[in-house]
Amino acid sequence: MKKILAVVGSYRKGKTIDTLVDKAIEGAKSMGDTQIDKINLIDQSIQYCKNCMVCLQDDPDKPLADCVISDDMDTLHQLVDQADAYIFGTPVNMGAVTAVMKTFLERICWIHAKPGRYPIKGCPTPRSGRKKQAIIIVSSGAVPTYLRMFCDDATSCIKSTVKCSLNASVIGSMYAGGIHTRELDGFSGKAYELGRKLMRY
Ligand SMILES: Cc1cc2nc3c(=O)[nH]c(=O)nc-3n(C[C@H](O)[C@H](O)[C@H](O)COP(=O)(O)O)c2cc1C
Repeated sequence: MKKILAVVGSYRKGKTIDTLVDKAIEGAKSMGDTQIDKINLIDQSIQYCKNCMVCLQDDPDKPLADCVISDDMDTLHQLVDQADAYIFGTPVNMGAVTAVMKTFLERICWIHAKPGRYPIKGCPTPRSGRKKQAIIIVSSGAVPTYLRMFCDDATSCIKSTVKCSLNASVIGSMYAGGIHTRELDGFSGKAYELGRKLMRY
């Protein structure tokens, strides 16, 4: 049975990203038996990474590096590690992921990765040898979808973290653009289809 972890980086429950992630979950469930855990990062107590480098220098053969901080990430690291696939959702704030999503990704980085050799010696490479998949859902308030290429650093930030730390390739993404003046319903179908696609791999 495929285990999916959905991570919501919105500050608002029941709004754009929360709703679109639920649609993707609905799509995934429509494809068959799956276990899906959904985390709203706003509910979690997640401290900032301290850049102490303890994780970076930990034994590269361990499945997960140790972290000096003890908080809700203790449980989240286990969920992240056990998942076969991921749904990441975040609003685009100031062109990038939200602060809670960035905090989460920074804490993920060297716990799930070890120093590698590509593209430069010392860059993170996944500790896990298990190939995984991910989909990414982002939304913007003002920027319409056709201008995504100029105003979306969120997708590339998540994409590089899941590749370098989680051994996951992004098999699809969407940008719900200009949602302050658009109906959310217009984006629901795409989110649902992405959820279905995640189950096909
Ligand atoms: C601090 C902040 C910065 C934002 N920056 C942008 C931005 O750069 N471009 C944009 O189109 N919308 C921006 N927005 C609007 C959010 O992207 C929009 O409200 C969000 O996608 C809604 O998601 P939610 O309903 O899940 O909260 C910003 C919102 C906040 C609070």
